[in-house]
Amino acid sequence: MRHLSLTAVGGDLNDTVSLVEGREPVLAPGDVLVEVDAAPVNNADLLFTMGWFAAQPRLPQALGAEGVGRVVRVGDDVDRSLTGRRVLILPTFVQGTWAEQIVVPAHSIVPLSVTDEADVLQLAMLPVNPATARALLHDYVALRPGDWIGLNLANSAVGHYVITLAKQAGIKTLAVVRREEAAKQVRALGADAVVVDSPELGERIAAALNGEHLRLALEGTTDPEQTAALVRSLEDGGTVVTFAAATGQAPSVPVGDLIYRGIVLRAFFILNWIRDTAPEKRQEVYAELATLVEQGVLKAPVEATYSLQDHQAALSHAARPERTGKILFVPRNPRS
Ligand SMILES: NC(=O)c1ccc[n+]([C@@H]2O[C@H](COP(=O)([O-])OP(=O)(O)OC[C@H]3O[C@@H](n4cnc5c(N)ncnc54)[C@H](OP(=O)(O)O)[C@@H]3O)[C@@H](O)[C@H]2O)c1
Repeated sequence: MRHLSLTAVGGDLNDTVSLVEGREPVLAPGDVLVEVDAAPVNNADLLFTMGWFAAQPRLPQALGAEGVGRVVRVGDDVDRSLTGRRVLILPTFVQGTWAEQIVVPAHSIVPLSVTDEADVLQLAMLPVNPATARALLHDYVALRPGDWIGLNLANSAVGHYVITLAKQAGIKTLAVVRREEAAKQVRALGADAVVVDSPELGERIAAALNGEHLRLALEGTTDPEQTAALVRSLEDGGTVVTFAAATGQAPSVPVGDLIYRGIVLRAFFILNWIRDTAPEKRQEVYAELATLVEQGVLKAPVEATYSLQDHQAALSHAARPERTGKILFVPRNPRS
């Protein structure tokens, strides 16, 4: 049972990550053994290796947060009918999905009912980004068809899912990206207005909205100028939800907007959503998202897949800016 293991926090991943042969899997009563079909590399995984994430690595640390696979064995207290089922593996940052097989507690998997035709790479990405997009869209402001929302990092996977889910709900999207190629991608996806970041971003967003206002702004850069530009077109009392900090800065809303206009700044974290959402509700959300994946409605672009052996190339590829899509490990040949 080979897996990728982190041996030191921080430093060059070429030196700190290696492919190791694990021990024969031992299942505690509540565990399941899952054969991993695919597992993405997310920004959070890279932050985790640096010690810059909510959870800290315990060395040697098995890596990889989410993925999809099939249950091959279950522990004594686990429903035997799970054996053979395709399941999502939810992130724990304790067990690692960049592995041929993984032992996880049964409460960290979600059985899927989709057919074998569903795209395994897209399913592997379901636990984190699509659930994040759905929560960003539905859990903060009660949006109605015809409302506008704004988002930056719009060409990211999260951006793809937000735009797709918003379109389905009749909600209009004002998408901010930082380069023209990304603008083309997001326009093709169906964003209602697309603006490339520039010094006059606030004016250009206002012009694109043509007198209308945003009801919700989803902010992933924490660049104070991008946030201020979105906030300028947010309705009074509107909400900004921070979901990422691509520039590494602290999120901020101009003080006049906070005090005089009642703008609300909130933040989202997927591990808290997983922890705080009742298992039945979680199952319902993932079933709904998996169906959209199966129908080909919900998808994020994939730029490349790698074997576990090629982890150095995979991890440096995932850290590259201006990708056209996500990077995933495919530890074994996925079943069709
Ligand atoms: N809060 C949560 O629970 C949660 C959940 C899921 C994801 N996230 C975060 O959401 C972000 C998107 O995740 P993803 O998997 O969808 O990412 P992704 O598909 O890998 O895309 C990365 C995005 O970040 C942009 N970007 C990178 N550095 C930037 C910078 N300095 N300024 C502006 N834009 C920058 C990229 O733009 P280019 O294409 O132009 O390089 C691209 O749009 C990540 O930061 C991730 O950690 C948070």
